[in-house]
Amino acid sequence: MAKLAINGGNRAISEKVKTSYPVVSEKGIEAAVELMRKGEISTSPIVDEFENEFAKFIGVKHALASNSGTSSLHQALFAVGVSAGDEVIVPSFTFVASVSTILAARGIPVFCDVDIDTHCIDPDDVERKITSRTRAIMVVHVWGNPCDMERIMKIAKKHNLAVVEDCSHAHGATWKGQKVGSIGDAGGFSLQGSKTMPAGEGGVLTTNITDIYERAIVCGRVEKIDLLPEGSRNRKASMGLGFKHRPHPVGIAMAREQLKEIDRLNDIRDKNGKYLDEGLADIPCIKPQKVLQGCRKVYSYHWGNFDGNLLGGVSTEVFLRALAAEGVSCGRAGYGRLHETALFEEGSIYYKECCLGRCPHSRKPSEFAKPDLPNTLYLRQHAFTMSPRFEVNYEKVLDQYIEAYHKVVSAVDELRAYEKENADKIAPVKVSARSVNPV
Ligand SMILES: Cc1ncc(COP(=O)(O)O)c(C=O)c1O
Repeated sequence: MAKLAINGGNRAISEKVKTSYPVVSEKGIEAAVELMRKGEISTSPIVDEFENEFAKFIGVKHALASNSGTSSLHQALFAVGVSAGDEVIVPSFTFVASVSTILAARGIPVFCDVDIDTHCIDPDDVERKITSRTRAIMVVHVWGNPCDMERIMKIAKKHNLAVVEDCSHAHGATWKGQKVGSIGDAGGFSLQGSKTMPAGEGGVLTTNITDIYERAIVCGRVEKIDLLPEGSRNRKASMGLGFKHRPHPVGIAMAREQLKEIDRLNDIRDKNGKYLDEGLADIPCIKPQKVLQGCRKVYSYHWGNFDGNLLGGVSTEVFLRALAAEGVSCGRAGYGRLHETALFEEGSIYYKECCLGRCPHSRKPSEFAKPDLPNTLYLRQHAFTMSPRFEVNYEKVLDQYIEAYHKVVSAVDELRAYEKENADKIAPVKVSARSVNPV
């Protein structure tokens, strides 16, 4: 058997793939430069055009662009009516913006668990976390994988709750034929540079409900308030809340070009992702993220779980290091730590100074710090990114990836010996709050 690269053997992967983001197309550059030449660097009709096109792409009545996915989620939460002291149920297995925007809307985040296989919000735990103060549920279609929207929408209806979809990773993902972002009351997409429709920085809110669209304008797009229909109550908001969430048109011009490419690129990424998953299907210790029946996950990110118990007790650390040595671009999730951040820690100045420490509606910090989230804690240890985003047809590289994985899992004795010999040297893979922390 070939010696592992971690022990000085040859690497399984010789091909180089571009793993860096963002992908900026020539057309995107031309569109951005054209706007700069025209001097449309603060407002531009191109933003309205993009909004119309994006609404059509998602299949909703309204889309409203902003300067970040964070801003879009903030607008969505305000627009669905989250206000002082309202509880919003949200996973901890997500990026900080899904939670910080709840605080920005003056709500109280209540952490819930996720499903081990899908990595998405666990509807049973959502039900357990509902109180008389719950106002909304924030679902996250994490890594491009649609949540169980059937269960979530049923729960929301039963308890009269709003649903905000964080679709930051999921441009084009579908749940039973419907695009995510069109199912709950409002959706928020990120157009940040590492996403599949990059504007550099930017976001989009989507909704079918006109009042929510208008309230989102009131929250963060002051220049549009006067343009609301004469009869709209939201037109009376004068300067609105005054947040400036307006998007940068130069970025939107780039995203608009990406929107034209998104279906084609999603197809390529999905084909490549599925090819890799199928190639690894005979490896019991690796389980790619499960996709619910009838849904389309978009392979904006490629995640799975590693179970070392099915590989002679090899740790995730050693497994990932061995893969990386073979040339696999892999890493760990920074997700699942939000309930432990300083914002929710009683002694920290962030807790004391932000509204949670002062708000009479707030929960006790111990309730934030010790929520019952066993699956989240499991995923912190076992979820890993299996490959980079494969943007072009890369069969040769994919075959080498499959070979690399098989090479590593076939070398249990070598891995265990490596682990034993290096026990004191193997530092845990450094994890930040970012989604992907490469090894
Ligand atoms: C799950 C999730 N939600 C929200 C955001 C916030 O998006 P943005 O960075 O555009 O503000 C991100 C961005 O990384 C994200 O990954």
